[in-house]
Amino acid sequence: MAETISLMDIDDDKIHTKPNKGKNVILSSSNPEPKSVPWVEKFRPQSLSDVAAHRDIVETIDRLASSNRLPHLLLYGPPGTGKTSTILALARKLYGSQVNNMVLELNASDDRGIDVVRQQIQDFASTQSISFGAKSAVKLVLLDEADAMTKDAQFALLIEKYTRNTRFALICNNVNKVIPALQSRCTRFRFAPLDAVHVSERLRHVIEAEQLDVPEGGLKALIRLSNGDMRKALNILQVQTPHLFYPHSDYV
Ligand SMILES: Nc1ncnc2c1ncn2[C@@H]1O[C@H](COP(=O)(O)OP(=O)(O)OP(=O)(O)O)[C@@H](O)[C@H]1O
Ligand SMILES: [Mg+2]
Repeated sequence: MAETISLMDIDDDKIHTKPNKGKNVILSSSNPEPKSVPWVEKFRPQSLSDVAAHRDIVETIDRLASSNRLPHLLLYGPPGTGKTSTILALARKLYGSQVNNMVLELNASDDRGIDVVRQQIQDFASTQSISFGAKSAVKLVLLDEADAMTKDAQFALLIEKYTRNTRFALICNNVNKVIPALQSRCTRFRFAPLDAVHVSERLRHVIEAEQLDVPEGGLKALIRLSNGDMRKALNILQVQTPHLFYPHSDYV
């Protein structure tokens, strides 16, 4: 009889729930071996239509961007719900092959200080945008982990100074750590934890693509354990697959 290993045995500490967290995904140039790619990256939604759940938010952002009315954005909500993925997919759609020139990816927990970051934004915003067809596209400053910034640094951002040709997309988990002055300059979108149906759909997609043999019970337990955090669901699936689902294989 096959030995069953409970999902409760999984040591969460061993699971990197935020490998890279999506930082500098656009700008990263390395192309690692497919086998070593974490599934969270391998299965990161590439286009807006790949983003599971949050269809109303994604379609609203898409509509605003397509009609040249993109506001400054503030995307907030718990980890692994698609905030960074949505902005990256939007950037790809807006800029295509020009994405590296048109997007400045910053991480708010960057320890170089706000003056350096501001200078970077200033330099980025002041260079000429490339024309896309008839209209000149606005550039995008992607500021991840905005809730890690001190209040002073948030005040120092002065996002309206660059509004003529630049939009900010702020991303954070805890919106209460973003100062009201900054919040009010952005259109806010809350990314709720994914519901079980969407986690299940997405996991089934990965299970099929990776040709895994996952029993229904294991899948259900995984959905329950991930609690709407898709990154966590994928990481557990990848790390634990040999232990959970092939307990007697040589791979263990
Ligand atoms: N809505 C979603 N649809 C499809 N895949 C998703 C979704 N949300 C998360 N994922 C998966 O989880 C990974 C992490 O998602 P993402 O980086 O977008 O999360 P996040 O909301 O920015 O989290 P954090 O707050 O921790 O930065 C993605 O690479 C993708 O594989
Ligand atoms: Mg993120």
